[in-house]
Amino acid sequence: MKNILALIEEKQQVYSQLPLFKFMRDQSIPPTKRLAFAPCAASFIMSFADLNKYVLRQEPTNDKIQAILNQHTYEDDFHWQWFLEDMQKLGFNCSLPFNDSLRFLWSEKTKNSRLLTYQLYKDITESEPIEKLVVLEAIEATADVFLSVTKQVTDELQLITNQEYKYFGEHHSDREKDHNAYSDDVNKFIENIYISEKTRQKSVDLIEKVFELFTQWTYELLAYAQSYQVSQALNQQLNREQLIEAV
Ligand SMILES: [Fe+2]
Ligand SMILES: [Fe+2]
Repeated sequence: MKNILALIEEKQQVYSQLPLFKFMRDQSIPPTKRLAFAPCAASFIMSFADLNKYVLRQEPTNDKIQAILNQHTYEDDFHWQWFLEDMQKLGFNCSLPFNDSLRFLWSEKTKNSRLLTYQLYKDITESEPIEKLVVLEAIEATADVFLSVTKQVTDELQLITNQEYKYFGEHHSDREKDHNAYSDDVNKFIENIYISEKTRQKSVDLIEKVFELFTQWTYELLAYAQSYQVSQALNQQLNREQLIEAV
């Protein structure tokens, strides 16, 4: 398993250099614009709870790897609540008629967010526990990059608005580091899992696929954020808060 984890780390390095993350690190762009992909990401972020609860989780189990997966799903299946809080604080909780919301969520410009869920569903359901664990480790590696960069943006934003952003900020990245799978004993167990040649091949393919899906997703998020105009109202609100800070 050590080689599989090393491959995930290698892919993670490449992933961290994608244009979306460069865009988010660019301090010349207003912080709200750098996070303006959030509505476009909603479909996947909300669906990730379902992937945890109904796809990755298999109970009861006598399988040690499946038990690790199950524990992990309980640690990850409720983070969407923080996302909704951040949507409100970032000014993206605008009022839309229900049908318009549906049109947006099922539109062409948000399709990779949906395809990401569907493809992960397929890969997970067609996998043995060890392969599911590989998929989960790859997902976590992408999340680690994503959240470490969103945290930098919310750190800047927090200085202006004095608000805490639980999903995109420190709260979430700290919880992710606390996964039981990263505790010394579980981590050691995972590293030492024997991988047959057949499983190794399939794992390499799965890792390739997962990173490719998330890569496509980042291009969709970037296009959405770039086309977003920071609203005057929000700017005024931020400016007002900046003024209050300055007084
Ligand atoms: Fe999470
Ligand atoms: Fe996680």
